[in-house]
Amino acid sequence: MIASPAILAPVDEQLASDVHRGLSVARKWLPSRLFYDSAGSRLFDQITELPEYYLTRTERGILTSYAPEMIAWAADSKRLRITELGAGSADKTRLLLTEAVALQGSVVYEPVDLSPDALAAAKQRIEREIVAVTVAPRVMDYTNGPKLDLGPVDAGERRLVLYIGSSIGNFDRSEAAELLGRVRAGLGPGDALLLGVDLVKDEAKLQAAYDDAAGVTAAFNLNMLAHLNRELDADFDLAAFQHRAVWNSAESRMEMHLQARTAQRVHFERLGFEVDFSAGESIHTENSYKYLPGQAEATLNAAGFAPIQTWADTQGWFAVCLGRVA
Ligand code: AVJ
Repeated sequence: MIASPAILAPVDEQLASDVHRGLSVARKWLPSRLFYDSAGSRLFDQITELPEYYLTRTERGILTSYAPEMIAWAADSKRLRITELGAGSADKTRLLLTEAVALQGSVVYEPVDLSPDALAAAKQRIEREIVAVTVAPRVMDYTNGPKLDLGPVDAGERRLVLYIGSSIGNFDRSEAAELLGRVRAGLGPGDALLLGVDLVKDEAKLQAAYDDAAGVTAAFNLNMLAHLNRELDADFDLAAFQHRAVWNSAESRMEMHLQARTAQRVHFERLGFEVDFSAGESIHTENSYKYLPGQAEATLNAAGFAPIQTWADTQGWFAVCLGRVA
């Protein structure tokens, strides 16, 4: 008998506990990694091309201008191996890999990600695009454990870890410090980290980036509910929730919320769990921390990296910082 895998697939225990933990409390919240099912990943790709979402294009501009300098500083006349936290931010990573190839003829690129599918796709894409790159995927959770255990590099080789795209923005200050400390613990003398952070700026500019006119970010946020409907047989009515993007100046972060338009009850069929919402009550789905000038360098420093150089766009919207193991 051929049964539907959707019926037989076991409940994802992590997801079940995320839902129980986040929706059983007074201030409801869900972790932002729940955005990224396949529909959510496609929506995020669309976000990166929106006119209001300046982050991706601004960072790409910085890398386009300065990739040669970045790679030269990181290599410091040695051979580089390039590791990336997350499975490759496509064209931005390509700028750096191409530069490394120009300098040393070939390069080993190690994307680190929890998703074997994302890694396989990155390997295919990158090895097809730049022949002198060997992709060595690492299935690992870089957000957990005492250290990022990447294993040794070849003699005379140095590792450059990329953590770009403002991915660190999803972590609060202490989590960010902890994460960088964990990366540091897995590196050796002379190794380096390239960190991309979004900077504090005009509130209207930030607001627009997280609440675009075309409604793509709203769809991205609401897709988290669709994800739970699919995965846990829940009955969220997406039309009964509204996307909210809020600048929290005290915490220096953009927040995303999903606000219930009316009082309602949501059932999670596969969990035997129900949640009540009052009218106007919201689920906090994401924090996106913004850095002040100098703050990324201070964070690197506190984690055991000596800040070497920072590159920014002329408007001061985004910064890319290089730190070397102190
Ligand atoms: C992928 C975490 C960098 O915070 O800007 C985009 C995710 N959320 N629009 C960000 C996101 C809403 C993005 N990061």
